[in-house]
Amino acid sequence: MMIAQITDMHVRAPDARCNGFIDTNAYLERAVDALNRMTPRPEIVIATGDLTDCGLPAEFVELRRILGRLAMPVYMIPGNHDRRAEMRQAFADSDYLPRDGQFLHFAVDRYPLRLIGLDSIVPGKGYGSICAERRAWLAARLAEQPDKPTVIFLHHPPFPTGLKQMDQIGCRDGAELGKVIAPYRNVLRVLCGHHHRPIQTAWAGTIGSVGPATAHQVMLDLVDAKPARIMMEPPAFHLHLWSPASGMVTHMAYVDDHAGPYDFRFDPDYPAADEEMELAATR
Ligand SMILES: [Fe+2]
Repeated sequence: MMIAQITDMHVRAPDARCNGFIDTNAYLERAVDALNRMTPRPEIVIATGDLTDCGLPAEFVELRRILGRLAMPVYMIPGNHDRRAEMRQAFADSDYLPRDGQFLHFAVDRYPLRLIGLDSIVPGKGYGSICAERRAWLAARLAEQPDKPTVIFLHHPPFPTGLKQMDQIGCRDGAELGKVIAPYRNVLRVLCGHHHRPIQTAWAGTIGSVGPATAHQVMLDLVDAKPARIMMEPPAFHLHLWSPASGMVTHMAYVDDHAGPYDFRFDPDYPAADEEMELAATR
């Protein structure tokens, strides 16, 4: 099974621009095209929050229009830039978002991998939380299927990343969340967004991972005193490949095309040239 993870799309109403100049909608259109073109195609897409830039109804309309072009189902959780009521209304016909209750969290059991989406929003705040009520919900879900391979996703990283300004607005009760997850060896990844950069770490007995954004990235700046800034590094997404034999492997893929591919041409002086050329001949 292959899961594509897109994140931090920050969709705006038509003609509006994120941060005054970034055409995030066009970026998302390109990401959708790239996913639809893939061979093989991912079976599903997950979107780990900041789906829209301000959580406005017109933005969710645009989000729905663009994601409606995806050739595969998409499962979404909100980020700090989204609003629950507006998201719920825009996707009222979804078959996975809860119809009632405060939080937009869910478990999906129809794939070989179990998906658990968490809602880490604290309305009106940039930081996130998986509070006691949400942790109890997650604990109950994990206890239901302790052996099925499971992926958890939430917007705010619950682990430190070294991007200190972003970590200050991360998930504030990450340590408590880690205690809920740590006993479960079947949790293969905790997938996040928010930091607009690809990041991996060992955390809570599993692997914590942050996906790159489909539009603007956050500058790789490990100096404490500096505020987070935007860098227009290439837009990208994560591909999480899973099989019973090899477990989960994560690749980063760029949205846009690059020069190539070119065949390797081995210099006869290269010590392993014979072996490499033999392999090339079998292609
Ligand atoms: Fe974001």
